[in-house]
Amino acid sequence: MEFDIAVLSGDGIGPEVIAEGVKVLEKVGSRFGHRFHLTYDDVGGIAIDKHGVPLRPETMEMARDADAVLFGAVGGPKWDDPKAGVRPEDGILEIRKALSLFANIRPVKVFPDLVESSVLKPGVLHGVDMVVIRELTGGLYYALPKNRRRTRRGWTGVDTLRYSQAEIERVLRVGFELARRRSGKLTSVDKANVLETSRLWRQVATELGEEYPDVELEHILVDNCAMQLIQRPSRFDVIVAENTFGDILTDEAAVLTASMGLLPSASLAEIPTEGRRARGLYEPIHGTAPDIAGRGIANPIAAILSVALMLRYSLGLTEEAAVVEQAVEAALDEGLRTPDIAAQPESATTTTQMGERIASRL
Ligand code: IPM
Ligand code: MN
Repeated sequence: MEFDIAVLSGDGIGPEVIAEGVKVLEKVGSRFGHRFHLTYDDVGGIAIDKHGVPLRPETMEMARDADAVLFGAVGGPKWDDPKAGVRPEDGILEIRKALSLFANIRPVKVFPDLVESSVLKPGVLHGVDMVVIRELTGGLYYALPKNRRRTRRGWTGVDTLRYSQAEIERVLRVGFELARRRSGKLTSVDKANVLETSRLWRQVATELGEEYPDVELEHILVDNCAMQLIQRPSRFDVIVAENTFGDILTDEAAVLTASMGLLPSASLAEIPTEGRRARGLYEPIHGTAPDIAGRGIANPIAAILSVALMLRYSLGLTEEAAVVEQAVEAALDEGLRTPDIAAQPESATTTTQMGERIASRL
């Protein structure tokens, strides 16, 4: 089969890790007889430097026309001035919104081989295997007004937290459907003791739950969820949260797996279904890691696992996706470690060594 993939690597370690993801994708192509037509473009800080904007209209068109988008990371100290008119992050936020990628799927699974690499006690990590669904196109990230203005008493900054019933319902539905296919347990995160949007969220969740009598629905306050994620992570299976809560909770959840460098994500405009073809965007959940950029030591596993999710949810290639995931596990089994997960960072492998080893395992 033939597929068009838009590759937007971005800044910092983005290009380094995406190069390994592409290596793995090419190998999948040769082994299974598929052709992946890759088109590359700038996004984020590099696009600001070269074109004056974090995302050009032609880049947006390219993303829209592709079967899937493979995305690296954007941002960095160079573009961090709070007074700047444009920011690298606007690039990714614009694509998510324009393609209506409201469902961000972030699987969090502890690799048995890496239990010792986590800062948490091994006993706590046993059996951790969950999926966090983060609402991705609403809430504080997008709602208006959103501005800074000068008042007689100094500056005021405004962000707006607004959610419509429809926005809440469609992302919760993704949660219920996924829960139904997994353990039948859904945890809905909110701050209903304080926030109006959360009270609506809880009400919509409860009402939607009537359509899913086979799914056990639990409501949890976000602060309590943050605590339990560390204290008793294995109790969670499918978690669904609004945009900002989901952003924060998934960085926290990454700690369970030893490194941010391991977690992939899929962003879709519909309920993810294995083997079907639905346009989506795939990106590691980590950022640009400016402190290690350009040194060839970043962990490419999150990017490679993002490729696996792309094969599964956007290209309909279920078997190929599983083969990539097995190759990652095999490389870890074999003892390959980038510095972020290595017991002895001196003898750690490089980004390319890890990518090549995984590709050669396919
Ligand atoms: C993420 C990132 C982004 C977000 C940033 C880069 C805009 O932190 O994908 O989790 O906040 O959504
Ligand atoms: Mn984040």
